[in-house]
Formats: sequence, structure tokens, C-alpha cells
Amino acid sequence: MPVTISLYICSSSDGFIADKSGGVGWLPPMGDEAQKNYEDYFASVDMVIMGSRSYQKVLSFGMGSNYWPYEGKMSWVFTKQDLKLERDDVKVTSEDPVTFVDRLNAATPPINKVWLMGGAELTKSFAAANLIDEVILFTVNKAIGEGIPLGVDLTPFDQVDEGVMGEEFKFKIYRRKNTA
Ligand SMILES: NC(=O)c1ccc[n+]([C@@H]2O[C@H](COP(=O)([O-])OP(=O)(O)OC[C@H]3O[C@@H](n4cnc5c(N)ncnc54)[C@H](OP(=O)(O)O)[C@@H]3O)[C@@H](O)[C@H]2O)c1
Repeated sequence: MPVTISLYICSSSDGFIADKSGGVGWLPPMGDEAQKNYEDYFASVDMVIMGSRSYQKVLSFGMGSNYWPYEGKMSWVFTKQDLKLERDDVKVTSEDPVTFVDRLNAATPPINKVWLMGGAELTKSFAAANLIDEVILFTVNKAIGEGIPLGVDLTPFDQVDEGVMGEEFKFKIYRRKNTA
């Protein structure tokens, strides 16, 4: 089975994944239901991938400590920079998304599912290459007016589920239309 590329991400009600300085302080704390959903989702993936700006944002949450929230999974950071990495479980790639996914599909043992963590720029490059298989899109009931829009065209996807997650989040799940 080819690897599943899964986007699991949260936006404001007006479609932004971060404010204009890249901040996500407008996201509400996760309640028990959302936390459990995240833990189950994280357990279901083999790998986490992200753009370099998202990587830097995650590191900033640790305020200089050795904070890394994706321990136990291999993470790949997409960048053209020569980033200095401190951990064996985080690697960088400058491959284009198609080459990257081809490499995953040839890997032994097989890689089943990858969390495309964000941000918008990396997500759009995967979407442009038609590489996203599922989208799990959370929305909070708060407009932030400006910022970094997710900006992914959901036309190539079928919505397969929707609901609420605790009091904080609504969600919709989309799967790529079967074009075979
Ligand atoms: N709300 C949420 O759930 C959520 C989730 C994730 C992230 N975020 C937010 O998203 C923001 C960052 O998003 P963003 O769109 O500005 O940036 P991003 O996608 O995280 O990173 C963009 C950078 O990644 C590298 N890159 C992207 N596509 C590439 C490709 N195909 N090949 C090689 N390198 C590639 C480039 O880095 P170089 O310039 O280093 O080459 C590019 O400048 C952060 O502020 C974060 O807080 C929010």
C-alpha cells in the first residue's frame, strides 16, 4: 500500500492557521476529548513532516530547552537551509514532495501514514502535486482577521465526516477523490 499523507491541522473560523507573526496563541487549550483525539492520531502515524517555519515555531515553544513534542516518531523538516539539528529523530530534506513520497514508498519496512503537520507553504506544495490523501481540519470558533491562510483547495476531496470535538473544536474529514 502506498503511504498515506494526512494533513491534521487547525484553523481559525476565517481560515488562518497562524496570525500574521506566525503565532498560534489564539488556539484554545485542548480539552480531554481533543487531547485524546490528538494522542490517538499521533499514535497512528509513522512520521511527521513540516516546513522549516513550522519547525522553528515548534522549537520556540520550548524557549531554548530541548523541547520536542514528536518524540518516538521520525520527523522530516523541509528546507533549503543547512539547519543544525540536535536530535537523531529529526532530519532535513530539500527534496521536492514527489521525490520525497517516492522514497517513502520504496522504504523497508513500509511507512504507512505520515502526518503533514504544516504549515501552509509546505501543505500547498504537497497539494499542488496531488499528494495529500486525507485532510482532518479542525476549526475554532474564533476569527482572527489576518494571518497565514491555510489556502488549500478542497475540491479534489470528498468530505467523509464532520463533528465537534469537545467545546473548542469543530472538525471535518476529507479524503482525496478516487481518480483511478
Ligand atoms: N494551526 C495549526 O494547526 C498549525 C500547524 C502547523 C503550523 N502552523 C503555523 O504555520 C506557520 C508556518 O507556516 P508557513 O506556511 O509560513 O511555513 P511552513 O510551510 O511551515 O514552512 C515554509 C518553509 O518550508 C520550506 N519549504 C516549504 N516547502 C518546501 C518544499 N517543497 N521543499 C523544500 N522546502 C520547503 C521553506 O524553507 P526554507 O526557507 O528554510 O528553505 C519554506 O520557507 C507557523 O507560524 C506555525 O505556527 C499552524
